[in-house]
Amino acid sequence: MAQLWGGRFTKETDQLVYNFNASITFDKRFYKQDIKGSLAHVAMLAKQGILTEEEKEQITDGLNGILEDVESGKLEISDKYEDIHSFVEATLIDRIGDPGKKLHTGRSRNDQVALDMKLFTRDEIHEIDAQVKELLEVILHVMEENVETYMPGFTHLQKAQPITLAHHMGAYFEMFRRDHERLQDIAKRMNTCPLGSGALAGTTYPLDREYTAELLGFDGPTLNSMDGVSDRDYLLELLSALSIIMMHLSRFCEEVIIWNSNEYQFVEIDDAYSTGSSIMPQKKNPDIAELVRGKTGRVYGALNALLTTMKGIPLAYNKDMQEDKEWAFDAMDTAKGCITLFAGMLKTMQFNKDRMEESAKHGFTNATDAADYLVNHGVPFRDAHGIVGKLVLTCIEKEIPLDALPLEEYKKISPVFEEDIYEAIDLKTCVNKRITIGAPGKDAMEKSIAAYKKYMAE
Ligand code: ARG
Repeated sequence: MAQLWGGRFTKETDQLVYNFNASITFDKRFYKQDIKGSLAHVAMLAKQGILTEEEKEQITDGLNGILEDVESGKLEISDKYEDIHSFVEATLIDRIGDPGKKLHTGRSRNDQVALDMKLFTRDEIHEIDAQVKELLEVILHVMEENVETYMPGFTHLQKAQPITLAHHMGAYFEMFRRDHERLQDIAKRMNTCPLGSGALAGTTYPLDREYTAELLGFDGPTLNSMDGVSDRDYLLELLSALSIIMMHLSRFCEEVIIWNSNEYQFVEIDDAYSTGSSIMPQKKNPDIAELVRGKTGRVYGALNALLTTMKGIPLAYNKDMQEDKEWAFDAMDTAKGCITLFAGMLKTMQFNKDRMEESAKHGFTNATDAADYLVNHGVPFRDAHGIVGKLVLTCIEKEIPLDALPLEEYKKISPVFEEDIYEAIDLKTCVNKRITIGAPGKDAMEKSIAAYKKYMAE
């Protein structure tokens, strides 16, 4: 047991209590941020004349030494300390003596941990965002290569209308673009510095909070010290954003799993991203996609856990808040692992273009276009819908697609049909006539791709 307090106690802490209360096993993860925060705090204390220049030098050198030694492996962060803050402070005092005891002047572990978690989270957001951008690049590349790769578009998992692979991928580009913007938005909103909030009520020292905020790359200090130590909104926002990212990945994975199935065979997942069966020699399983889909629940769990933890906490700091870390760390790690693996799987996946196009030709994906043909010849849409419904029924009986139905049969149901119906319901016509903004037609898709490329370059 090694703790920073004890003066008013007459008994040792029970070992089980100590273990239950301690957080070092998980908060040692932000030793770097903790030291960085202390360095800024000390620089500010000296600037304000609260510490002498000499004390500042000694403490700064001591902290830098600790950082170096932890990084090189020379100094182990021992679990005997209560938390990372205690470890750093105790080690500093051990190494430099009395000046080390002045480090914590005008500071509480409450504003210290609020700062550390924010610094750590801010770094993580940038890392996760970089991965999302990587994924956007992979998706954009697949789009560029597949403007003329035809496939069925589905509603209710029933073939609906023909689209292209570029169009399908474009939907995911939009989703992950929103994710990227959400992350940026969170990083911007959270960028205020809680250091100087003290335990809850600020301090009596003349701290320059603007200076520390600036040293640590924040836009400014938090404006209420009670909120400063007890705000975890930014974590909840991040966990929400990560949950949405996971939801997007999970939907994408679900499609990859369906497309990779024996029945669909739209895609082949690269061997490097597939797994085998211990009993069935023929198997090549989409385990990675399934795991990403499965791990989504874990990230949702983190969001729900922290929402629940926070909901009953009176102002200001309460120990419940220590529970933010393990879940948040797990969610960040999970999301990062999933985004990277998914991007790799997508990048190496083979699309079975012939099979996709063949599939698009069946299931009456051109029925809407047959109805539109009639509308273009003056038939009201509702009537056209009924006429084509009858045509489809005829084709189902004959077990043929609309393209294979002879013109006489068309004419039996509506005299409006002429030879040019076949051109109108040709797969490529169906797709390429859809050129409104956001539609799958080649012209529209090329415009989308150009816009996305510009977006990525900015
Ligand atoms: N380990 C605590 C946390 O993670 C920070 C320390 C604050 N402790 C305290 N007793 N006020 O939230």
